Amino acid sequence: MFLSVLSDTQECVKTIFEDSISSFDKRLSDPMLYAFSGGKCLRAFLAVESAKIYNVPINEALRAATAVEIIHAYSLIHDDLPCMDDDNLRRGKPTVHIQWDEAIAVLTGDALQTLAFEILSDVRTSKDPQVRLDLISTLTEAIGANGMVFGQVLDMDAEKMTTVNDLDSISNLQGKKTGALIEWSAQVGPVMAKEDNDSLKQYAHFLGLAFQVRDDILDVEGGVDKVGKKLRKDKTSGKATFVTLLGLEGAKEQAKQLIDQAINELEALPVASNNLKAAAQFVISRDL
Ligand code: IPE
Ligand code: IPE
Ligand code: MG
Ligand code: MG
Ligand code: MG
Repeated sequence: MFLSVLSDTQECVKTIFEDSISSFDKRLSDPMLYAFSGGKCLRAFLAVESAKIYNVPINEALRAATAVEIIHAYSLIHDDLPCMDDDNLRRGKPTVHIQWDEAIAVLTGDALQTLAFEILSDVRTSKDPQVRLDLISTLTEAIGANGMVFGQVLDMDAEKMTTVNDLDSISNLQGKKTGALIEWSAQVGPVMAKEDNDSLKQYAHFLGLAFQVRDDILDVEGGVDKVGKKLRKDKTSGKATFVTLLGLEGAKEQAKQLIDQAINELEALPVASNNLKAAAQFVISRDL
């Protein structure tokens, strides 16, 4: 049911994306569109919903929402490469390096990453240059060498089970590899309104952790037809996750506690958001 709530956002960001790549050569725009398509767009949804709380114009918020989905798509292309997770299936389709080749996959990821910043720097995202700069600088922080990319480095360490073998280290790595981008998404509203909102930050922090715990649970008990990516990978690669440390039931309990904490934070918002609450409930119940 929640998936139908996401479909509006999915359509809007796709339109902005298609418009943004229309001048590119097909050798890049084809794999870019291929990689961008077919995601749930939860991050975009968080961006839009956080923006609604602050009455940010929807057409501007949707551009920031598109940027976050573009970054996410780039991160998945690189994550699936043979030198990383070596996956051949993503969103129910062959991964970009299988459909094209490794060089195109790397370059498509590069082109997507720069496109996200091109969109944020455009005046259509905000007439206020300070807001555009703030969106850009907070996003670089979230996805760079202190954020998502470092999370991916830690994630590779987790496969060795030596340095990452306790709940704190796993939370730290997951907070960076998955949490940071989700946190940025929920900050779009406050950043675009030049406000600060600690509850929204905390909400997204708990949500991001729960999201990755659910991903780890789905890796063990999900169905490939629904999830659309290769599963049972964490065990084969010997990766430490909440599931390997707590067991399936323990991980489910942990995810539930995190979501309860996330929902608690919503109480303090200036305007109630049923959609952010529904998003939190979806994160732990999702089977895709
Ligand atoms: C998958 O994210 C990768 C993780 C960070 C766990 P999503 O489950 O949001 O993937 P899509 O965008 O819906 O395909
Ligand atoms: C992906 O994490 C995180 C990023 C791309 C930053 P995973 O490797 O666990 O995601 P899946 O399981 O391939 O979707
Ligand atoms: Mg990975
Ligand atoms: Mg992966
Ligand atoms: Mg995974």
